[in-house]
Amino acid sequence: MRTVSVGFLGCGNIGCGVWKLLNEFKDDIRHRANVEFDIRRILVRDVHKKRDQSVPQELLTTDVAQVTDDPDLEMVLEFMGGEEPATRYMLRALEKGKTVVTANKMALALNWDILQDAAQKHGSGLYYEAAVCGAIPIIRTTIDSLQANRIEALMGIVNGTTNYILSRMTQEGSDYEEVLKDAQRLGLAEPDPSSDVEGFDAAYKLSILSSLAFHARVPFDVIYRQGITQVSAVDIAYGKQLGYTLKLLAIAKRDGHVIDARVHPTFIPDSHPLASVNGSFNAIFLHGHACDDMMLFGRGAGSAPTASAVVSDMLYAVSRTEPRYTTFMNSNMLAPGLMVTDDWHCSFYIRLNASDQPGVLAYITACLGNEGISIRNLMQRDAVNGHAQIVLITHDAGECAVRKALSAIDSQDVRVESMIRVEAN
Ligand code: HSE
Repeated sequence: MRTVSVGFLGCGNIGCGVWKLLNEFKDDIRHRANVEFDIRRILVRDVHKKRDQSVPQELLTTDVAQVTDDPDLEMVLEFMGGEEPATRYMLRALEKGKTVVTANKMALALNWDILQDAAQKHGSGLYYEAAVCGAIPIIRTTIDSLQANRIEALMGIVNGTTNYILSRMTQEGSDYEEVLKDAQRLGLAEPDPSSDVEGFDAAYKLSILSSLAFHARVPFDVIYRQGITQVSAVDIAYGKQLGYTLKLLAIAKRDGHVIDARVHPTFIPDSHPLASVNGSFNAIFLHGHACDDMMLFGRGAGSAPTASAVVSDMLYAVSRTEPRYTTFMNSNMLAPGLMVTDDWHCSFYIRLNASDQPGVLAYITACLGNEGISIRNLMQRDAVNGHAQIVLITHDAGECAVRKALSAIDSQDVRVESMIRVEAN
């Protein structure tokens, strides 16, 4: 039986979940892997804080060196979240030759190059299955199980909070602010929800996923990001009438050397597998040249689902004779030879408020036509106070052309109310 001594950096919701899983599952772990994890030290901010699990008081410390620098500790689990001091502490542990297992998407997405570099220099392991979509095994699936594929596209619902909000807005016809407040009251959204609702969390995850999928670093700062704060119940309702469901999607596509990577509210056909992923569930839909279409679905957050991924990484790490590293170079830049485009192609949903006068529709279609944009579907609602709602869906068009057309359309007689991208027609 091998004993692996372990230190925790942080012991909040996820740390307590890992503590619980390691304890309640230890006989199975012994039986399955012939290994025992011995938790020796836990870094916390406040040793007197009440915790969910009965973590022994004598394991707690406020001195990080007792975790990162203790030569007796073989493995360090990081659950602090945020960029710093988590990155610094992980670096220290890696430099000391320890295996680091982290659930921290932000630290990884922003500092992957230096963490990976330190790991390789010191022969340490760095594992992060829990950093993207909780219990869903998307990291190892991408690295191992799909390695015989050229992954051409991935689209994911990678943030449970926003999926919960959009699902309720869709089901109830409610407004964003109302559902957000309720989600906060229920503890399903943070008191400061900006990381989730502004799309940061999803963009960190997309940076990690697309880098692995494309075998090339796709830095966080090249990712286009638009959250859900401007989403309106009116657009969700029009989308429904047209057969679309609104989701916050993390999308990455590769066409030769050109990639696009973006997080934004997206209409998808009701028949798309992602359309039925509701509530706080996550799912990743991807296309590989050999595996064809695939979707992974599950719990993307929460104490036990995240612990499931962390403990699986711990077992994976001890099963290896050599640490696993990414196939791409340690760089904070976009991989050489790759180009990011902000002129991706998809369909577009456009809602306009137009004066109900002769020639206005002709003006709108001319502005679109001038940019080579063709209309697939158009509906106009009866005018109220001389203003009509016009909703249209374009055929496949370029982002830049649509933006140009919309700025021409926006005029005295026509107000552009919203534009939402439409994928997977
Ligand atoms: N806040 C995230 C979510 C979970 O709502 O999915 C952690 O990434």
